[in-house]
Amino acid sequence: MTEPRGQWSGRLGFILAATGSAIGLGNLWKFPYITHENNGGAFVLVYIAMVALVGVPIMMAEILMGRRTQQSPVGAFKAMAAGHTGSRAWPGVGWLGVVSGFTILSYYSVVAGWTIHFTWLALSGKLATMAADPVALGDYFGNQFLANGPQQVFFHLVFMGLTIGSVYFGVKGGIERVAKILMPLLFLILLIMLVYSTRTSGFGEAMTFLFKPDFSTLTKGAVLEALGHAFFTLSLGMGAMLTYGSYIGKEISIPRAALQISLFDTLIALMACVIMFSIINTSGIEVNKSATILFTTIPTVLIGLPGSGLLIGMFYILIGFAALTSTISLLEVVSSFAIDELGWPRHRATLTMGSVIALFGVLNALSLGGNTALTSINLIGRQSTQGVFGTMDYLASNWFLPVGGFLIAMFCGWVLNARTTREELEKGHGPMAGYGLWRFLIRFMAPLAVGAIIVSVILGKEYQ
Ligand code: TRP
Repeated sequence: MTEPRGQWSGRLGFILAATGSAIGLGNLWKFPYITHENNGGAFVLVYIAMVALVGVPIMMAEILMGRRTQQSPVGAFKAMAAGHTGSRAWPGVGWLGVVSGFTILSYYSVVAGWTIHFTWLALSGKLATMAADPVALGDYFGNQFLANGPQQVFFHLVFMGLTIGSVYFGVKGGIERVAKILMPLLFLILLIMLVYSTRTSGFGEAMTFLFKPDFSTLTKGAVLEALGHAFFTLSLGMGAMLTYGSYIGKEISIPRAALQISLFDTLIALMACVIMFSIINTSGIEVNKSATILFTTIPTVLIGLPGSGLLIGMFYILIGFAALTSTISLLEVVSSFAIDELGWPRHRATLTMGSVIALFGVLNALSLGGNTALTSINLIGRQSTQGVFGTMDYLASNWFLPVGGFLIAMFCGWVLNARTTREELEKGHGPMAGYGLWRFLIRFMAPLAVGAIIVSVILGKEYQ
């Protein structure tokens, strides 16, 4: 006997879970980092344009495929291709999604695990002692923490355990329940930190940096980087939104949901920037352009400010929560594949797939030692082929997601007919004034823009 397929309890459950998938290390870590690197203002505007012109249309495409077929990515492509084309290659896009989920989760969970350790360091007061000396903290992070293999493996496994535990209880009982608790908390913590940051002396400078564009500082590479990041941060290109969309009912408006999820995601990313830049500016510390600022510079800076102990603890809890709702969605893609395609019960699917990914991730956890500068780690980003960790990240960010996104856009824009897509987008929405615009963006804008990333990767100009 097969279990009934999962469903969200309603609109709110879906929006919170999908927003939870979107908001993650990409927003709190990667976005501030690349915004800093690309000189703020103009980059922020370009990024927002990419989210609106490419991200939102592709998100709508993924969700519509999910709801239409009530299947996870492989099955969804199978079912939709059947009535529209003779080609049997399309389910390959779903397979690519499963491989991406596997790959991303195996390293994402390692970084996510760091937040557990740092929350503990902050709350126990140990971090305060260490952060008093920036050099010592950097040394601890690079030479002791990352190089300590067993410790890295331990926190990675704990985080995978939390992820498996959430997905195990199903769409409504697990994923949605966790999102409903963590997302409001996350927002609250962020809000507290935002209010705090408005009272620091670096706030004004941060606002100018972020919202006063200077287009002369913009490079071609920045435009591509903004687009690549839009994919990662919105969880697009591997069927995560497709899978979540397969659990919604027909009363939900897909265009509205996609818009809301993207809006929330962008809002949180900008809040994270305001907070971090205010704090950093206040201290006057020169930020090194390394991806480790979250674990080295930030505590050093925060520790000098009043009320810092609790603030830092909260900060790492925040990042951990954001990461957990994201790892859940990554595992759900792989699990739902086993449930829908292999006919496994959910419990077996989650435990088996989760354990295999956890074991594979151990290789990532162990590959960090000796990689002290850690400049090679950018969650989605430039070429970084050092070690297993860097290779996984490089593959997923530069190849899997853009190629997956490109194919999803081509499929929805060119293979599916307008009647099918319009019908699905208007279900629960009513006549859609922007349908023509959506179709234009998905047929031309998205493939061209994403194609540009792929070409630049092939030419070896990794967002330079
Ligand atoms: N969007 C998440 C972040 O910003 C990461 C993530 C979760 C993801 N699920 C995904 C990325 C699926 C790509 C595909 O951190």
